[in-house]
Amino acid sequence: MNTEELLRLFEESGDEFLSGEAVSRELEVSRTAVWKQIRKLEEAGFVFEASRKRGYRLISKPDLLTEESIAAHLQTREFGRRLLLMDKVDSTQNIAAKLAEQGTEEGTLVLAEQQLSGRGRMGRGWVSPYGKGLWMSLVLRPPLPVSSAPQLTLLTAVALCRALRLQTGLDIGIKWPNDLLHEGKKLSGILLESAAEDERIRHIVAGVGISVNLAEGDYPDELLERAASLRIAAGRTFDRALIAAAFLNEWESLYKVYLAEGFAPVKLLWEALSVSLHRKIAISTPQGVIQGTPIGLHESGALQVELEDGTITALFSAEMGEPVRS
Ligand code: BTN
Repeated sequence: MNTEELLRLFEESGDEFLSGEAVSRELEVSRTAVWKQIRKLEEAGFVFEASRKRGYRLISKPDLLTEESIAAHLQTREFGRRLLLMDKVDSTQNIAAKLAEQGTEEGTLVLAEQQLSGRGRMGRGWVSPYGKGLWMSLVLRPPLPVSSAPQLTLLTAVALCRALRLQTGLDIGIKWPNDLLHEGKKLSGILLESAAEDERIRHIVAGVGISVNLAEGDYPDELLERAASLRIAAGRTFDRALIAAAFLNEWESLYKVYLAEGFAPVKLLWEALSVSLHRKIAISTPQGVIQGTPIGLHESGALQVELEDGTITALFSAEMGEPVRS
């Protein structure tokens, strides 16, 4: 039995329930095999209603991304205009990096329905289940020194935050450097990986994961306390194509402003959207844990933190901890 045959049966029976027994008879397979295929389809985003007495019926199919549904909302010149829409990949970062090495144009986007080994910052993984999120990597070729890369990370967070606030109406803020939070829970992550030559950026692969329609059951238990999706936060599902296009529109226009005017406009927007400033916190740095109050961004993209003795230090790489009571 293949999943197509099983799906055809459920589609033909519409709102009617099909018992496991009826399906196994029709397709000449065991009931366990039927049950296993249904589990597989559920993992792929199909929703079934199960009734002990009546069997199963198909409630909804996953809304899969299409080039047309994204292009319909796209107002960019380059971002997402060359689009590789993939089903299951290890990580979109790897595919985009290969394309970048081969010389693909700026704005090339790799978008996958599922990542089997999605990468997060600091060597962590990234939960990327099928058909429920936006797992994407964009190729950038800014004519800038590598020292500008942190600014581009912050720029990406600003564009994403603005797009998501507009599309969802949720009160979303940026936790330094680039996590988007709703009520303290992380909704998305950004990972920029760059290749350089003589201190200049050759290309950047900007990876963005947006947890759009994930349900609580899609997260491992230990993450539920810290992670959420737009669906969990808003209590409804969202059109992923619309969210992707809205973000790409915002991202490209801010990127153009940045290339023309520098970091100052991005810095202002980031500071206005940040939830990390003006509260004393513990910060883990490569040199150890320090306590201080983040007061804003430095022109370089570093976070400026006022320490207890009044001195100001700039951090590029650190993990923000919990607020400290004084
Ligand atoms: C973080 O740790 O916050 C960064 C997460 C970045 C996840 C995205 S999903 C698309 C792209 N492909 C990956 O493997 N990682 C990034």
